[in-house]
Amino acid sequence: MKLLVIGGGGREHALAWKLVQSPMCEKLYAVPGNPGIEQLGECIGSTSGDPEELARLAEDLRVDLTVVGPELPLVQGVVNAFRARGLRIIGPTAEAAQLEGSKVFAKTLMRELGVPTAEFRIAEDAAQARELVRRGPVPVVIKADGLAAGKGVVVAETFEEAEAALAHLPSGRFVLEEKLTGEEVSFIAYVDGDKVIPFEPTQDHKRVYDDDRGPNTGGMGAYCDSRILSEPQRRQVLDRIIYPVLEGLRHRGTPFSGFLYAGLMWTREGPYVLEFNVRMGDPEAQPLMHRMRSDLLATLVDGAPIDWKPEPSVCVVLAAQGYPGTPRTGDVIRGIEEAEACGAVVFHAATKRTSAGLVTAGGRVLGVTASGPDLPSAIARTYQAVEKIHFEGMHYRRDIGRKGLARW
Ligand code: AMP
Ligand code: GLY
Repeated sequence: MKLLVIGGGGREHALAWKLVQSPMCEKLYAVPGNPGIEQLGECIGSTSGDPEELARLAEDLRVDLTVVGPELPLVQGVVNAFRARGLRIIGPTAEAAQLEGSKVFAKTLMRELGVPTAEFRIAEDAAQARELVRRGPVPVVIKADGLAAGKGVVVAETFEEAEAALAHLPSGRFVLEEKLTGEEVSFIAYVDGDKVIPFEPTQDHKRVYDDDRGPNTGGMGAYCDSRILSEPQRRQVLDRIIYPVLEGLRHRGTPFSGFLYAGLMWTREGPYVLEFNVRMGDPEAQPLMHRMRSDLLATLVDGAPIDWKPEPSVCVVLAAQGYPGTPRTGDVIRGIEEAEACGAVVFHAATKRTSAGLVTAGGRVLGVTASGPDLPSAIARTYQAVEKIHFEGMHYRRDIGRKGLARW
């Protein structure tokens, strides 16, 4: 089969890395791809990202199956455009992608369906949000309605922080939410018609600094370990959250397909939904693909069950100076080969090949991923590899996977 991956980050490199291992994969294209994916297939740099243009490209390349990484093309209707041309693609339609595209949509749907999620109020604009914030209570979680690349949420502990957040968040509608406490878990399932294939649980690390301090990012690292959720806990997530939402969307005439990602807070009363994403997680895809033993393509094409290696896997994101603010770019990256010689896989997230060599090209630069017979050794191996890599201004969290150690 000829495959096309849409996207060019660490998640897409991990998906491409896994897909090309399938005996069914003859050729892999990526748009725009990145220097890591370039080692696995052909990257097509220039398109506007317009759904019609992407569908034409897939047609011209005679692609048999397209896998979409990021949310933006999904929300813009890339699946609708492909299906209209009879092209096979993994992902939800624009209508079903509203689950991620609009927090107001997702929260309202969850309320209607009785899916556990934080209590919330909706504000039509910043002025109304300010008014609602003043009426209390704090802490309050303020979420901009639309897509914001992981930067549209502020957990405000005080009224002053809430006011400051409203001045900085993108304008439009807002969701004001009660703050939940517990441990965060990413639960992802592959959905194809009536078939729901849950992935192993993962845990992301959203804050930029160790011990969950500093502002939220797209994710500074993740690990995949079956001990994150027991079998009864996984059933709870499926029965209380995944199945009702899939049924709710089907009932509305907008059935979901593709990767459904529930970002959960595991509270004393069980799982609560913080957010839905309509795609694989980034960086969750990196440890997930690393731990998957069976053929991902067989699952996507035929719904084949997934077989997982028992060993936990860990991904540490190496970020550029300034991230999650404006990152510094153009710094030469050294040590990837040495890191890989330690047994890690280094996924490219924002790199560029230049005459000076491989350089940084964005906020999250690399995702160093490794596994081990148990979580402590998986963490140790990953950091051993991380230490081989260097670029000016590089920063990363030193506590990826630490919460999971309590389960070992
Ligand atoms: P979201 O994009 O909605 O997942 O929010 C980004 C991050 O903000 C989450 O991963 C949590 O760390 C945090 N967060 C979001 N909603 C809440 C909430 N209701 N209570 C506590 N933390 C939250
Ligand atoms: N790691 C969080 C996300 O993919 O949205």
